[in-house]
Amino acid sequence: MSNCVIEAINLNKNFSENSNIVEAVRNVSFTLGKSEIMIIFGRSGSGKSTLLYLLAGLETCSSGNIKFDKFNFEDLTFDELASIRRSNIGFVYQFHHLIPEFSAIDNASFPLLLNGDTKEEAYVKAEDILNKFGLGNRKHHKPNQLSGGERQRVAIARALIHDPKFVLLDEPTGDLDRDTAQEVREMLKEYMQNSNASLIIATHDRSFEELSNFQKTMDFGSLI
Ligand SMILES: Nc1ncnc2c1ncn2[C@@H]1O[C@H](COP(=O)(O)OP(=O)(O)OP(=O)(O)O)[C@@H](O)[C@H]1O
Ligand SMILES: [Mg+2]
Repeated sequence: MSNCVIEAINLNKNFSENSNIVEAVRNVSFTLGKSEIMIIFGRSGSGKSTLLYLLAGLETCSSGNIKFDKFNFEDLTFDELASIRRSNIGFVYQFHHLIPEFSAIDNASFPLLLNGDTKEEAYVKAEDILNKFGLGNRKHHKPNQLSGGERQRVAIARALIHDPKFVLLDEPTGDLDRDTAQEVREMLKEYMQNSNASLIIATHDRSFEELSNFQKTMDFGSLI
């Protein structure tokens, strides 16, 4: 399918714990097209975060393959995956993962510095996106000086600042009150209207349904 941005083919991920094997992801296959949004629901421990890590190349599959653009993840080294991620993929972690010593603007501009922008160039773009996300007066605050909702908005700004084609969001509204969660959904909606990105959102928040093209559920590692 020419419109296909990402194809997951029979993905499996096992973790060994003492003598037990945890099958965190089991035989997961799907395709996602340009500008499509897939929502993944599922109870705690069902494998949502693990699947997102595989799709971002942050973890390797026990078996199976991921095709993204022209790339086959199974053929790539960890460094090559990191390079693809830096230019093409945005990731919002379940627990924000902001760098504690960095201000909001330094966190948001970090992906651009990794991609070779100068600090001045990166700051211009970071100021712009932080202003759009209502964080204009929080640019120089560090993560521990921000509220949960502000931290999450910085994490989303960092994930989107390099205009990635593929964005993965792990519980983007997990920690937020209803109004702030609504703001985050509005921000993502606006981003989608101005980009051709494809999104996968793991969430317990049913309000994301209205944004999505299709919804799936993880159940004991299977995507149904
Ligand atoms: N690094 C790891 N080592 C061992 N087991 C792991 C590891 N990461 C995840 N698991 C196990 O894999 C299963 C799936 O975990 P995962 O974090 O993907 O679930 P989840 O659906 O994201 O849950 P939640 O909704 O609570 O975030 C769980 O049983 C978890 O304990
Ligand atoms: Mg999770």
